[in-house]
Amino acid sequence: MQQQGLYKEVYTIMFYEPEKNNHGLAHDPFKSCVVPRPIGWISTVGADGVHNLAPFSQFQNLTFDPPYVMFAANQTTDGRRKDTVVNAEQSGEFVYNMATYDLREAMNLSAQEVPPEVDEFELAGVTKAPSKLVKAPRVAESPVNFECRYHQTIRLPGNSTMGTVDIVIGQVIGIHIKDEFIQPDGKLNILKIRPIARLGYYDYTSIESVFEMIIPGPDEKLRSGMEGKKEDTGPKD
Ligand SMILES: Cc1cc2nc3c(=O)[nH]c(=O)nc-3n(C[C@H](O)[C@H](O)[C@H](O)COP(=O)(O)O)c2cc1C
Repeated sequence: MQQQGLYKEVYTIMFYEPEKNNHGLAHDPFKSCVVPRPIGWISTVGADGVHNLAPFSQFQNLTFDPPYVMFAANQTTDGRRKDTVVNAEQSGEFVYNMATYDLREAMNLSAQEVPPEVDEFELAGVTKAPSKLVKAPRVAESPVNFECRYHQTIRLPGNSTMGTVDIVIGQVIGIHIKDEFIQPDGKLNILKIRPIARLGYYDYTSIESVFEMIIPGPDEKLRSGMEGKKEDTGPKD
């Protein structure tokens, strides 16, 4: 342990600049440095009525009151915007389906770059369940689904054909959770759900252990916000 405030280099550390791509490794380490990344398995419906399904590990929740989520879709290998982005913008809707260990092969099958007229639910062999508030179907086998209203796209310029990215933000307007994954204490049974996440390269992880830590200090409101206590997340009126 170093003395606080006095920094002295005691390790050898590699440093590189992404603009120069001078990491010198056989594999670009960037995508393995922000892990694990949850997988937003996004379903949409095209203007022609074809159902679309694809995984995005550049995915996150952004806030909770109201809840928003985002996924970031790079361009295709031949420089087109991905079908999921086009559909979310045109229809004004998308659905997030949680990807789990049991669903890993189906999730992977749905990642194939196929023409927009291909129904990726069929390609992946998963079942369509109707949504309540949006037209895009849910993955019936998934334990958690969010129905989302399209909010905004932020487009970041890229250096390469695939580098340009569409960050699609949606407001979560409906949430489905299978009862079998809700514990008597009102929390989700994450170990039973066993979500999967990306580690960069071709590597994945799944959640097989959970531990609890509570922020020390007197701020009861902060703690109950973290825990998602009923009074912080329930109806406003
Ligand atoms: C686990 C996993 C995560 C992925 N994450 C992303 C991502 O974050 N952004 C992206 O552009 N593509 C990602 N892909 C690739 C897309 O799923 C793939 O390009 C897909 O064909 C897009 O489908 P669409 O054109 O129907 O939208 C991922 C693939 C896998 C298997």
